[in-house]
Amino acid sequence: MLSMTKLKLLIIEDSEDDALILISKLKKNGYEVDYIIVESEKDFKKAFSVKSWDAIIDDYNVPGFSGDHALEIFKATGIDIPFIVISGSMSAEEAVDILKSGAHDYIDKNNLLRLPHVLEREIKEAEVRNENKQYIAKLKETQETLRSALRQTIETIGDIVEKRDTYTSGHQKRVSILALAIAEQLGLGEEQKENILFSSLIHDLGKITVPASILNKPGKLSEIEMKMIKEHPASGYDIIKNNSFMQTIGKIIYQHHERLNGSGYPDGIKGDSIMVEAKIIGVADVVEAMSSHRPYRAALGLQAALKEITSKKGVLYDENAVNACNKVCSSKDFSF
Ligand SMILES: [Fe+2]
Repeated sequence: MLSMTKLKLLIIEDSEDDALILISKLKKNGYEVDYIIVESEKDFKKAFSVKSWDAIIDDYNVPGFSGDHALEIFKATGIDIPFIVISGSMSAEEAVDILKSGAHDYIDKNNLLRLPHVLEREIKEAEVRNENKQYIAKLKETQETLRSALRQTIETIGDIVEKRDTYTSGHQKRVSILALAIAEQLGLGEEQKENILFSSLIHDLGKITVPASILNKPGKLSEIEMKMIKEHPASGYDIIKNNSFMQTIGKIIYQHHERLNGSGYPDGIKGDSIMVEAKIIGVADVVEAMSSHRPYRAALGLQAALKEITSKKGVLYDENAVNACNKVCSSKDFSF
């Protein structure tokens, strides 16, 4: 006896007699069948809007509505239920072809013995597939929620940093826009782009450990003051290093002032030792900073900033990042 007794069956069949034989076979095997018989594309499509079905039984040779065509229409619906083909005159090649096209099984019309068993098996398998799909969709939704929560938290941290440093207010957001555009221009993957976005939004986080009087000082900084400012990448890393969701972000922040030739800080690492993400943010950071007003100088403008990074291309700044930055900034649609 089958575990499931109620069955909603959509039957594509031009011979009502054949359909009734099939139904009586299922009834004998413990099914209570709720069915509809269609024999045209129009009625088949309509049947999906009427109710949901447990399975489709398709007579392969319905005149004017072939099994291949019915299968195509069914696949386009995105509904995942068993599609079982029945035929009394199908060649082995045709049977193989329709299975390859996505039908779940093929049964000889003159031997319906397998039908109840095939239906039971395929319905169970479809249930598992649908459960998995729902599970994956739920998982994606949860991941999206987490990502959005992380982004909002990061933006809040970014706002806190910029509240203390009025002159550079908006700096991190603008750097994030440019850095992300460079990453897109370079064709980086989603994960790298997200890390670049998140890191750039809080890349100067460590500046909260620097006194506001130094950050906002209009004149030239003393050696000690400069040293304190230069500690901000390491301080930023220190603040978030214990956050398990922000490990990569912490590393990128730590490296955003490193330069290709080793003249950067905090560690003076060179070339490929510097993460691509940090190289990109380094370029965006310099371009944004030079384009904007600072306590100790007026804005130098975007063109001067691009000239600067281009002249130090391959020496201080990554060549690809500089080229991509020039391309992005010369685009009419871009502003930051
Ligand atoms: Fe910085």
